[in-house]
Amino acid sequence: MSKYLGILTAGGDSPGLNAAIRAVGKASLGTYKMKLVGFRDGFRGIVHNRTVKLDDGALSNIITRGGTILGASRDKPHKMEVGNIVMDMTDVVVENYHKNHLDALICLGGGGTQKNALRLFQAGLNIITLPKTIDNDVAMTDTTFGFDSALAIATESIDRLHSTAHSHHRIIIVEIMGHKTGWLALGAGLAGGADVILIPEIPYDIQVVAEAIRNRSKAGKRFSIIALSEGAFSREDYEIKQAANSKESTGGNSMTREEVEDRMANRTMRLSALLQELTGLESRVTILGHLQRGGAPTAADRILATRMGTACARLVNDGVYGVMVASKGEEAVPVPLDQVAGKRKTVPLDHPWIEVSRKIGTCLGDLV
Ligand code: F6P
Repeated sequence: MSKYLGILTAGGDSPGLNAAIRAVGKASLGTYKMKLVGFRDGFRGIVHNRTVKLDDGALSNIITRGGTILGASRDKPHKMEVGNIVMDMTDVVVENYHKNHLDALICLGGGGTQKNALRLFQAGLNIITLPKTIDNDVAMTDTTFGFDSALAIATESIDRLHSTAHSHHRIIIVEIMGHKTGWLALGAGLAGGADVILIPEIPYDIQVVAEAIRNRSKAGKRFSIIALSEGAFSREDYEIKQAANSKESTGGNSMTREEVEDRMANRTMRLSALLQELTGLESRVTILGHLQRGGAPTAADRILATRMGTACARLVNDGVYGVMVASKGEEAVPVPLDQVAGKRKTVPLDHPWIEVSRKIGTCLGDLV
C-alpha cells in the first residue's frame, strides 16, 4: 500500500517554499510511489479541510516562483480564531488527518511552526517538518531556506543606498527584517559594506554609533550606511523594555505601558533623529519590509530546499516522524522536534561574521 502524505506551508512565506514542495512531491510521487495532497493557508487549511491536488502537473514549473502555491497563514491549531472566538482546533486537525487517510503530515515553517508541529506530533499524528524562514533563526539547523534570497535582496538594497547616501552626504539607516535575531542585518551589512551594523544580540550605545560616524566625517567620508536589524535595541531602550517586562521593577519605571510601546515602535525614527542631532549630518530611513520576502529564490535556496524536500520524502518512506529535517553541512539529518521547538538560534557573539566585521572596522554599536 502506498503512503498518503499531506503538506502545508505555515508562518510567513519565504522564497524556496515552492522548490521544497516540488522536491517533496517529485521524490514522494516518483521515487517512493506515495500520494500527496496539499492543504491551503497553513494549519487553517487542515482545520477547514481545504485541500489542493498535488500531482505531477501541479508540481511543474514552480521552482522559480516565490511565495507558496499553497498559501500561508500564522494560524496555530491550538489557538485558532474561529469567528470572533479563539478555539483549540487540535481535535479537528486530527479528525481531518484521518478523514484524508494520511500516513504523515509535512509542515514547512519557521520557529512557530516547529512548536505547532510538536503539539500535533504529541497529539498522535505522524509529523515531519522542514525549516524555512528568511530570519535563519531555527535551532539545530545550519541554515533555513529563504535566508539566502532575503540576504541577496537586503545586500542589493544596501548597494543601491550607497550611491545616494554618498551623493547627499547623508546617513542612511536601512531597517532589515530578522525578527529577534540579527542574521539578516549582519550578513547583508557585511556583504553590502555597511559602516555600522546593529543587531538584537548586541544592544547598542547611540554615542558609540555617533562617534563612529563623526570619525568617518573627519576622515573625509561624509556619509554612512547603517544596517539596522528590526529587532535591535539601544541599551537605554533595552533597559526600559526589560523594566516594563519585569513586574518588580514596573514601579521604578516612570513610563506607562503605552509610552513604552510607543517608544519601542518608533525607535528607528528616533535613532535617525538623534544621529542627525549628534553628527550634524542629514539622516534618512529605508525600511525594506516585505520586499525581502518577495520574488524568486536564489540558486542556493533552491538547492537547499530540494535537498531538504527529498530527504523529507525519504524519511517518511522510512517511517521516521516527530523530526525536523535539518541541514548540517552537505547532509540532511532528522532532529527530534522537541530539540527544536521553542528554541531560537541567535547570532553567537563569537560568530565569525561578528569577528570579521570588527576586524574591518565596522561599528557594531558597542565599545570593544
Ligand atoms: O519571520 C519572517 C518575518 O518576515 C520576520 O522577519 C518579520 O518580523 C515578520 O516575519 C513579519 O511578519 P508579517 O509578515 O506577519 O508582518
